Amino acid sequence: MGQNCRPRIAVNQKPEVYLSKELIRQRVSELGDQITRDFAGNHLICVGVLKGSFIFFADLVRQIDLPLKIDFLRASSYGDHTESSGVVKITLDLSLSIENQHVLLIEDIVDTGTTIHYLLKNLKLRNPASLKFCSLLFKPTQVKNQVPIDYLGFEIDDQFVVGYGLDMAENYRNLPYLGKINPRG
Ligand code: IMP
Repeated sequence: MGQNCRPRIAVNQKPEVYLSKELIRQRVSELGDQITRDFAGNHLICVGVLKGSFIFFADLVRQIDLPLKIDFLRASSYGDHTESSGVVKITLDLSLSIENQHVLLIEDIVDTGTTIHYLLKNLKLRNPASLKFCSLLFKPTQVKNQVPIDYLGFEIDDQFVVGYGLDMAENYRNLPYLGKINPRG
């Protein structure tokens, strides 16, 4: 690797396995089955929240046995890399109309709930036929805005997790498992 390609932050911590890839695969398959049953007979639009949901999203939609379309949103909540500030902004909007469509919003993690609270409110204003929310992870100790999670992968303790799409300062997204890391370390 050339000098210019070196990461600017230290990423030499090897994250300890918190949720293994086998456990995640099993849970994603169960969620896919549940969603397939619940939406039977309907077409779906699955909306992924970038960037953190990208791996979960790709795995989950392949477990949903229904006709569906996909789309993406990107939201940023200003703050440092490990704490959200409470101000949410949509930085990439949907390319499809969701009016009169059945929508499943797919997120990586609900921490304070601020991001998803804002996104659900925003999407509801677009008059979907129905709007459900699926999150891979939920940290109940951090929540400030209660959000209804219709489909949840795992409830986790108050710790910073990376991998399977989730990052720390844009690193670790490619880990095939969810790992624990100390963001200050
Ligand atoms: P919230 O608005 O506080 O619920 O934060 C949601 C966003 O914060 C998520 O979509 C993630 O991008 C990020 N986030 C929160 N906790 C973690 C974590 O433990 N690891 C990686 N990203 C996290």
